[in-house]
Amino acid sequence: MDPVQRRPAREAGPHGGHGAADARAGGFVWVYTEPGADPAEPFVPDALSRDDVAVYRYEETWQTHWTRAMENMFDAPHVPIVHRNTIGRGLRAPAERGDVMNVEVEPREHGFRTTWSTAGGQSAAFLDWLRPNGMTLHLASEPRLYRQHLWCVPVDVRQTRMMLVSVRGFGRYDPLFAVVDRFNRRILAEDRRVIEGSDPAEVPDPVHEASVASDRATLTFRRWYLRTQKREPEGARKRRLEVAG
Ligand SMILES: [Fe+2]
Repeated sequence: MDPVQRRPAREAGPHGGHGAADARAGGFVWVYTEPGADPAEPFVPDALSRDDVAVYRYEETWQTHWTRAMENMFDAPHVPIVHRNTIGRGLRAPAERGDVMNVEVEPREHGFRTTWSTAGGQSAAFLDWLRPNGMTLHLASEPRLYRQHLWCVPVDVRQTRMMLVSVRGFGRYDPLFAVVDRFNRRILAEDRRVIEGSDPAEVPDPVHEASVASDRATLTFRRWYLRTQKREPEGARKRRLEVAG
């Protein structure tokens, strides 16, 4: 893996906000915009630093809060519904029969790993959350390595830059496999339609939305966000201080 090249915080960085520190690794510049933060090393997926794979990069901006885009990636049960004519085709019949999807979440150093199964068995694919705003979807292992990496990068409270890096160990020199890469964009477009229509754009407190057991991974993310990241509105903090005082 390439070493992480770190640059210290500056007064105003070229890639981020005031006082941003950045690091370069895996073909990305990793920016930490929190003033005064002492950022941990970025978790860079190993496939991004390989030179023996085909890499496809794609970006587009969605009209949503980054949390809404991120949690959608953990939501395995949406696949047979939102992607019913693409990647969810095989899960459609079990979903229509009412089969229950069982979702497991296991804490990892980088966030969590989520796996899922139906009556038909355990899915070969699994997904890693790369805290705070990235994921790797492991679709197939060697020798036909196939992984999707995606980061949901906040632009502002209503816009999120979706940065996709697809890595495959097959068809490296075959231009026909470009169709596989274009397919990724179709899947993203299916998600985008749903996500941009979600209200509110920022994920709400879990108590405000009905949830079921198969929401385990999305709820884990949502609780983490609300507990550690979400800034309270000024008024709420003031009221709490008044009560405490
Ligand atoms: Fe999706």
